[in-house]
Amino acid sequence: MIAPAEELAVLAADAIEALLRREPATVLGLATGSSPLKVYDELARRHEQEGLSFARARGFMLDEYVGLAADHPERYRNVIDTEIASRVDFAPGAVQGPDGLADDLPAACAAYERAIAGAGGVDVQLLGIGTDGHIAFNEPGSSLASRTRIKTLTRQTRVDNARFFDDDVDQVPTHCLTQGLGTIMDARHLVLLATGRHKAEAVHQLVEGPISAMWPATVMQMHPHATVLVDDAAASRLQLGDYYRQTFESKPGWQGL
Ligand code: F6R
Repeated sequence: MIAPAEELAVLAADAIEALLRREPATVLGLATGSSPLKVYDELARRHEQEGLSFARARGFMLDEYVGLAADHPERYRNVIDTEIASRVDFAPGAVQGPDGLADDLPAACAAYERAIAGAGGVDVQLLGIGTDGHIAFNEPGSSLASRTRIKTLTRQTRVDNARFFDDDVDQVPTHCLTQGLGTIMDARHLVLLATGRHKAEAVHQLVEGPISAMWPATVMQMHPHATVLVDDAAASRLQLGDYYRQTFESKPGWQGL
């Protein structure tokens, strides 16, 4: 779907709201980074003004930096609390993330996989995409079947994320824990948001490129229910952009995402 960023956020929020109203004990997959921020704003607004409740829902984060102090504002656990968890009525402990401060990181990854499975799996997973085609922190070369594990961040990702660390790439951690591509593919609905020209090549590869570990997001082509929400700039390299626009404009009996 190609539309202005504000509209994309409303569509993603609609999909989450429909799920919550149908099944209040739903399991949400939460992404960090800039891409989902407007969706979180919209969900917080609906919670405040329209009574949308997350009281029985659970949330699982995609990834976490390794080694950032518990009170570091850029620790993803804290970012998710600030951007969404503390703004709605999740029950205490209902939102979980991989533990980037664990003594035994592989054990923390395995425990995280068990927690997601124990909750019955993720119903809707929000995603952003890196300029190098990563989803979560599955950098190029990631196994398409990977599970939650430790990854080394690429220089490109650390440069991209330096904006959250006083524009100082050296402050960006070198490692992370991330859900694997196989973990993400187990979610029942994937909703990826991308805006801006810097995402255009990654979006082109995601939608139209050959499936390859070099562009990890391309694994989504194999998902039975994946929705890609992009603005004009992020859509600017799509070969079949006119066709996608036409498809959505003429879709009969629009039933949401
Ligand atoms: C964040 C994450 C990353 C981001 C991606 C895009 O939890 O998993 O894959 O979604 O790096 O980041 P933004 O949205 O900041 O451009």
